[in-house]
Amino acid sequence: ADPETADPEKLSTAVDELMRYDTPLQMFERWVLDDILIGDVPIPRGSEIALLFGSANRDPARFENPDVLDLSRTDNPHLTFGAGIHYCLGAPLARLELAASFGALLDPALPPLRLAEEPRWGDGYVIRGLRELLVEF
Ligand code: HEM
Repeated sequence: ADPETADPEKLSTAVDELMRYDTPLQMFERWVLDDILIGDVPIPRGSEIALLFGSANRDPARFENPDVLDLSRTDNPHLTFGAGIHYCLGAPLARLELAASFGALLDPALPPLRLAEEPRWGDGYVIRGLRELLVEF
């Protein structure tokens, strides 16, 4: 653990990068109310479309070196919590909980943790997350 990372501002920057890099909610759907054009793709009224947040969060047109996990990335307008009127109501709470959890794990009074075995991921396609992460110290 790098004690530097436990600095609250650095910690919140790092948490946002973790959420960009490994987006927990990969896909959400929308039903299109009017004929619209996105870029040069016409989308007719009544269509059901999938928004791929994980893909948008790795867009090379918006993120420098998108496939690199950079815990000090500050230019980070990720879509992990959506956008617009349905922007996640729980975003501040989720950020607080993640910063508190990682902050506790980085406590210099704790022995350093090591990965005990390869993490196991859930099978879900829409919600991405760990099934099990075993550590040892
Ligand atoms: C890392 C954790 C979380 C992620 C990645 C996440 C992600 C999202 C996303 C992407 C949306 C927008 C869906 C859309 O576009 O329609 C959303 C909406 C929402 N989230 Fe979260 N969320 C998280 C945690 C939470 C928590 C902790 C709460 C409540 C305590 C919460 C409550 C809500 C609610 C109520 C909405 C609907 C807002 C609306 O439709 O106006 N979320 N969330």
